[in-house]
Amino acid sequence: MALRIAELETPEVLVDRDQLLRNLGRVQRIAAQHDVALRPHVKTHKCIEIARLQLEHGAVGLTASKVDEALVFIEQACGPSFTLAYPIVDPRKLQRAFASAGHQNVELRITVDSEAGIAAAEAAAKSCNKTVSAFVKIDVGLHRCGLVEDDPQVVRLVRLISSSSQLRFAGLLSHAGQAYTAPDIARIAEIAAEESAILQRVRSRLASAGFDVPEVSVGSTPTVLAGNSFEAVTEIRPGNYVFLDATAVRLGLASFEEVALSVVVTIISANSSYFIIDGGSKVLSSDLGAHGTGAGVGYGVALPIDVAGAEAAPLLVARLSEEHGFVERAGEDLAIGTKLRVIPNHACPVANLAERLTITSQGEMIDQWQVAARGKVR
Ligand SMILES: Cc1ncc(COP(=O)(O)O)c(C=O)c1O
Repeated sequence: MALRIAELETPEVLVDRDQLLRNLGRVQRIAAQHDVALRPHVKTHKCIEIARLQLEHGAVGLTASKVDEALVFIEQACGPSFTLAYPIVDPRKLQRAFASAGHQNVELRITVDSEAGIAAAEAAAKSCNKTVSAFVKIDVGLHRCGLVEDDPQVVRLVRLISSSSQLRFAGLLSHAGQAYTAPDIARIAEIAAEESAILQRVRSRLASAGFDVPEVSVGSTPTVLAGNSFEAVTEIRPGNYVFLDATAVRLGLASFEEVALSVVVTIISANSSYFIIDGGSKVLSSDLGAHGTGAGVGYGVALPIDVAGAEAAPLLVARLSEEHGFVERAGEDLAIGTKLRVIPNHACPVANLAERLTITSQGEMIDQWQVAARGKVR
């Protein structure tokens, strides 16, 4: 007999399979509607089974940040091609990636934003006797990695890549992660439009310098769900959309019912201000939201396990110790032993902290999937 959620030992990270499939379908439809390829980022789930579902739904390949994260999927022959959307500058890592991708016959595309990155890629490709496609990363406003649009280095890097016998220019790649700071959907749509406009200007500048831009790869869950500016874009790379989280709800991108990942916890104690739950920062992470953004209050919200989110008043997870969470009582009187479902601020680090995801359907556990690439941070 399948266990019901209420019967599980806690804390346990749950993924509602039916909602997961709806989330996959939602973004696959957006890709089809705008005629762009979908190459999801696996850093959100790090799970082979979910990557296979994404590919079955129509993803053209996968995206990863780190080499060792990608290798878990490449070695399981998960998808025909992979983009490393992260500037890797250590040739040993790239060598490892190129060798494994070659062995599995997987196309590997890399990302650079410096001459050092190009030199590392050339050295690694030469040692593996490979030709590798390289994207140049453009900073569209997050101000993390990438070159700003009018930096003369953009044309210089494309020229260097194009003149290398080991490298091929794949195109431009960007991530508008600043969308997580937007106050509302309208601002997210503007950020997506700004990203598209920046990339079109860079493409024109490169055309004037004699370079064709084969692909333009963008992607963040907010800009994919709320944006409608896909001019010049050939590919989207969202990650978080598979699960969504309290941040997506705060931004107006989803309702609590549309969040596929939650953590079932038990109230193990209580005081005059808080219910104390058995999930702390080692389960929920201390993340305030993607890129450290957030509402500035709390670490997620707690809902009853068997009441649809919209009907239940969410209780704030106000503080965390390592192994305890502090849930605001807000006038509620819940018994010790009551189970709650916490929707975390940021689903991606929560999956990375879990050994496995417990897959549920209609309130019952139906499977458990390993988080195969958890902790793969090199
Ligand atoms: C380079 C890059 N591409 C894509 C993504 C996916 O973004 P999201 O999780 O918002 O979908 C990220 C997330 O951090 C990223 O850093």
